[in-house]
Amino acid sequence: GTPEKFRRPMPLLPEKKPLARTGRSDLYVMTMQPARAELLPGIPSDVLTYDGHFPGPVIRARAHRPVVIRQRNRLTVPTTVHLHGAAVPPDSDGDPMDVIEPGTERTYHYPNRQPHAPLWFHDHTHHLEAENTYRGLSGSYLLTDPTEAALPLPKGRYEVVIALRDARFDEQGQLAYAMGDRARNTLLANGVPYPYFQVAARKYRLRLLNASNQRRFELRLADGGPLVQIGSDGGLLTAPHTTDRIALSAGERADVIVDFSRHPVGSSVVLTNTTGPGPAQDIGEVLRFDVVRTAHDPSRIPERLRTLPPLPRPDTQRTVVLRMDEGGEHPGAYIDEKAYDPQRVDAHIKFGASEIWTVTNANARAEHNFHLHLVQFRILERAGEPPQPAESGLKDTVFLAPGETVRLQALFNTYRGRYLYHCHMFEHGVRGMMATMQIR
Ligand code: C2O
Ligand code: CU
Repeated sequence: GTPEKFRRPMPLLPEKKPLARTGRSDLYVMTMQPARAELLPGIPSDVLTYDGHFPGPVIRARAHRPVVIRQRNRLTVPTTVHLHGAAVPPDSDGDPMDVIEPGTERTYHYPNRQPHAPLWFHDHTHHLEAENTYRGLSGSYLLTDPTEAALPLPKGRYEVVIALRDARFDEQGQLAYAMGDRARNTLLANGVPYPYFQVAARKYRLRLLNASNQRRFELRLADGGPLVQIGSDGGLLTAPHTTDRIALSAGERADVIVDFSRHPVGSSVVLTNTTGPGPAQDIGEVLRFDVVRTAHDPSRIPERLRTLPPLPRPDTQRTVVLRMDEGGEHPGAYIDEKAYDPQRVDAHIKFGASEIWTVTNANARAEHNFHLHLVQFRILERAGEPPQPAESGLKDTVFLAPGETVRLQALFNTYRGRYLYHCHMFEHGVRGMMATMQIR
């Protein structure tokens, strides 16, 4: 059954501190280790973690200040670590075949030569990424820069990372993983099912991450109150956008201001979810904000948040078709009718090229989404229409409804080498919906 709602507080994700700050970079050491986390009250569940935390910690990085992370694998499975949304050299991108064997370690170099963005990291091991990430191997990585830092947005305790995901628990209350699982109907916020979160009657900046393997969220305040979206995968939008819903497919992020001063102290407002599989009593509510005190609020939402460079003239166009077999025991999943083969290069890209990709979901019923490693792209069109404000900024992952086509534009001017592109519904990737691009 559904765990009782709004009984436990939503924990804040711990901030990971560097082991050393040298003149040139911040050095971190992280240990991938098994742990037991009390996901259901009173029942410790076996999970996989970065540093013992479920979900993983938050790393704060600054643009143009490199981060170096030594990752030690104390698990019994191989791992790789991918920093989602980041431009990093190919040998630090966490390629599926480039694994850290149990008992060994590996150092990843993140140059951070890109603008601010709410990045996140997760496992990407060939055939194991879905299960490893589901069992706990994900964390948050907030990259900031002077443009973002100068804005008078809510800061400190009023800026809160919320990692959302779904999960299924077995009879014993253990986190359960199965490949074709359609019954992940328990929603977790920062690792706790349906928590409450005590807030002051003022503005908060919520850094939302959909860390689910597959589930898409459509988030609303139960009273229909305004959500001001200020950012997406690749950082701030050019201007704030007031809406009543935030849609997040697996892997996507949204940066949202909620003003709780609209609510009297002592009242509550539930964050609801209005899409996705599962019974409404399980998936219709995510967490509850309890307004418990007043607070001074010097923060503001500026009318202009950032400027984005104009899109360069494209050098090349290409098409990508995502399709999976519907039904059957072991449905295949393909990009351009081919299943992933780590030996094969599927897209040859000239270094420095600006490319338009026309990406189509060829399924009549199944949803997909599309993630490009290495770049932040711009969406030109969804189903023939210009993008909605929520999708008008920099993106690295984009939702594709059944039958839908999205056109996007990306500039490949940072690193040469091999990188992935794939559906970010992890089980689709595991089944083959993944491909390799080579930039040279
Ligand atoms: Cu978030 Cu290839 O991954
Ligand atoms: Cu898919």
